[in-house]
Amino acid sequence: MTEEKKPEKKGVSRRGFIQGAVAGLVVGAAATYGATTMMQPTTPAPPTTPTGEVVGPAEAKTITMTINGVTVMNSVKARWTLQKYIRDVVGLRGTPEACDNGACGNCTILKDGIPVLSCSMLAIDCAGADITTIEGLASGGTLSSIQQSFIKNTAFQCGGCTPGFILCGKALKDKKSSPSEDEVREAVSGVLCRCGTYERVVKAIMEA
Ligand code: FES
Ligand code: FES
Repeated sequence: MTEEKKPEKKGVSRRGFIQGAVAGLVVGAAATYGATTMMQPTTPAPPTTPTGEVVGPAEAKTITMTINGVTVMNSVKARWTLQKYIRDVVGLRGTPEACDNGACGNCTILKDGIPVLSCSMLAIDCAGADITTIEGLASGGTLSSIQQSFIKNTAFQCGGCTPGFILCGKALKDKKSSPSEDEVREAVSGVLCRCGTYERVVKAIMEA
């Protein structure tokens, strides 16, 4: 009887694949968005119930805010959350939609340098604000030091929580370049990681 040879495994490792995917997503998003200086007002369809009824107040207001250094002006309905606005109107999909009720911290963005839950804040209340999303951290195709440290430490598995952790870490590092481990843990305590990568997240932020 002849022994059947198993085919050799080829291609990239799981770690290499994840690193490449995350880096490609962030760099690609930054490059596309960076080319825009002023976005045109858009009028997306309002949310409706399954029976077709329009949900929430109909009033809209044109507001301007800065998102990742770009001035963005749009007509915004009073009921829109900042999370929906950033994702569905501005088109920046790096801010995750997770629990949608303020419980997981995955949708964290920076408003005037302070981490806030974008699913629990109305876009209309952010008129004039300076907003930073995960797409705004890379510069000229180069990932920020904290993003690079997350890749180096493989501080993610599914990546759903990663933008929230990175932005909380950035806000802390902007205030204090060498925080203690306790300070890092405190800064990211509002972000939930379902995959349990907390130890690596703390290490990545400390090392960035
Ligand atoms: S999606 Fe905003 S806190 Fe979970
Ligand atoms: S890496 Fe999966 S939720 Fe944190």
